[in-house]
Amino acid sequence: MRVGLLTGGGDVPGLNAAIRAVVKHGEGEHGHSIVGFRNGWKGVVDGDVQPMTRQHIRNVLQVGGTLLGTARYHPHAADGGLDAVLATLEAERIEALICIGGDGTLHAASKVAEAGVRIVAIPKTIDNDVWGTDASIGFDTAVTIATEAIDRIHTTAESHNRVMVVEVMGRHAGWIAAASGIAGGAELVLAPEAPFDIDRIERFLKHRHRAHASFSIVVVAEGAVPAEGTSMSYETQVGKFGEIVAGAVGERLKSEIEQRTGFDTRVTVLGHVQRGGTPTAADRILGSRFGVAAIDAITRGETGVMTALRGDRVELVPLGEIAGKVKHVPDELLQVARALA
Ligand code: F6P
Repeated sequence: MRVGLLTGGGDVPGLNAAIRAVVKHGEGEHGHSIVGFRNGWKGVVDGDVQPMTRQHIRNVLQVGGTLLGTARYHPHAADGGLDAVLATLEAERIEALICIGGDGTLHAASKVAEAGVRIVAIPKTIDNDVWGTDASIGFDTAVTIATEAIDRIHTTAESHNRVMVVEVMGRHAGWIAAASGIAGGAELVLAPEAPFDIDRIERFLKHRHRAHASFSIVVVAEGAVPAEGTSMSYETQVGKFGEIVAGAVGERLKSEIEQRTGFDTRVTVLGHVQRGGTPTAADRILGSRFGVAAIDAITRGETGVMTALRGDRVELVPLGEIAGKVKHVPDELLQVARALA
């Protein structure tokens, strides 16, 4: 069988492990030919293909990014996009497609599947907000990087008696903020799931610095917002694909804290550092498991489904079930962050 493969949306560490698994298991075990599309759905629309054989996947497990390139492009939202996808698949004699992506790519995958294409999807996003799976490729690496950054910020915060605001990624969900905040021992974790009250933050920091500490670390997800009716008004700034303008909420919070408390305050925006470089073992393993499961599912004739981690098992969930949903951080995890402030 000729199987198409693409990675869409923001890159994450661990994508190459999934690509490698699809190619190695697909070619070696099932005898499929794997055809890579460059730069996500854009490559399918443009017919930008690249053969993917075992020689293309040597020594890639430890390499970040994606061998195939990626783009934020959604064919169902572009004029003639879906028709162009179908035309390329026919011209390339592609019988099935494996799409690795986050919410945007998965939504496109469900639209293309509805048009009659056999599709199995694999979830990836450092934000960890894809519904229906306990974990997505890239999250573990991002948390590891953010935790290390917080550890490093700790020592300089303490030396200078400063408040350090650390902005991490997380548009709709604060998984990275909650996980790295707990692992790094942050005083405050601000996530989109729990809009914050700047007056309470001010009181908390003043009390802490008066009573027993000279420094504090505040981890804020880029999508965090103040609670309605509180004394700070702020509108999240977004780019053309809905991505949040990096640093905006962190900078604003830094000024508010400095103004209100008088404490010397700095902001660090971790940004794309969280998405780059070597994947952790956990992301390599997750990518490998999803890759094997996806090519096995395609071979069995499954379609319109996504590989998902449920407990310690990899299962398949219908794409229709996850569409339009966001997996939010449970209050229990945020409570742990609060309890350890
Ligand atoms: O969706 C993953 C993500 O890393 C978000 O956390 C972030 O808002 C966005 O991508 C950044 O997108 P870009 O790389 O296009 O700036």
